[in-house]
Amino acid sequence: MTSTPSFIIIAIDGGAASGKSSTSKILAERFNLLHVDTGSFYRHITHELLRRGVLPTNLAALTLALTELNFTTQLQGRSAQLMIGGQPADHEIRGQNVNEHVSHYAAIPAVRQKLLGYQRGQVAVAQQHGFRGLVMEGRDIGSVIFPAADYRFFLHADPIERAKRRAREGQLDSIAERDRLDSSRIASPLVSPTGAIAIDSTFLTLEQVVGKMAALIEKS
Ligand code: CDP
Ligand code: CDP
Repeated sequence: MTSTPSFIIIAIDGGAASGKSSTSKILAERFNLLHVDTGSFYRHITHELLRRGVLPTNLAALTLALTELNFTTQLQGRSAQLMIGGQPADHEIRGQNVNEHVSHYAAIPAVRQKLLGYQRGQVAVAQQHGFRGLVMEGRDIGSVIFPAADYRFFLHADPIERAKRRAREGQLDSIAERDRLDSSRIASPLVSPTGAIAIDSTFLTLEQVVGKMAALIEKS
């Protein structure tokens, strides 16, 4: 007799270009998981607020604008896409302007609060669509969003190697500055949560990183 495997939650955190998205996508494929890239959510909100001319320094206008943002989810393959007012994010969320501003918006507690319930709600989305679980990546997934996740990984990589990875993707990205802002903010800073499995990917290929994670998941 076979038993139905229980729903699993995998949290992956780490600095910019540490390999979160690439590893999450492979794990999602291998274990039939919903892939949730929370960085793309912060990027989409940043893009929308910039489009509306709402600056992170104007808290009153920002709080009002947040109440006007209506979040829904659309699946793109195995990935959960945040729709704002029914609209998907466009390619500009990966552009230089959003790279420069996103950490400033992400440091604001009201912005994080707006996303908190939405992120946890992805469990129901995954269940409704028949996934075996979800893999969620970001900065505070193992520390704040799902502290009791079945697996919590924290990816490290040397900052020079990470900058090279982004450059190879043809991107202008202020990785060091974003890491500094993300690690030093008061609200849900980037930290390796106690008990998380830390993996240094500086000298590892993507396949080697995924192999380490998958071995732990398969064992249980
Ligand atoms: O892809 P990369 O690692 O460079 O960044 P990302 O995951 O797309 O996240 C963009 C930005 O969103 C980060 O620099 C953080 O400021 C913010 N973020 C956050 O504060 N908390 C999360 N859970 C995910 C992203
Ligand atoms: O999501 P995050 O910003 O943490 O990183 P990513 O977008 O998954 O990875 C950034 C780049 O580094 C991608 O082009 C990956 O293929 C590459 N990478 C790598 O060369 N070696 C690794 N061990 C992990 C990622």
